[in-house]
Amino acid sequence: MYVCLCHGISDKKIKKLALESGISDIRGIKRCTALGSQCGKCVKQAKEILSTTIPSYLQAS
Ligand code: FES
Repeated sequence: MYVCLCHGISDKKIKKLALESGISDIRGIKRCTALGSQCGKCVKQAKEILSTTIPSYLQAS
């Protein structure tokens, strides 16, 4: 499923970055992708995906 339609970023891509690259916050995802850089509508959903993908004790606030 596409999360960021502006840049074609899927939930799988976000989960992969979180699990394989150890990215634990939305800023890290934004740094590695263009997520949120256009309309910004995807940021909330991307945060939700991150929070369900990585254990809470690893999440940056
Ligand atoms: S949907 Fe991600 S920037 Fe527009």
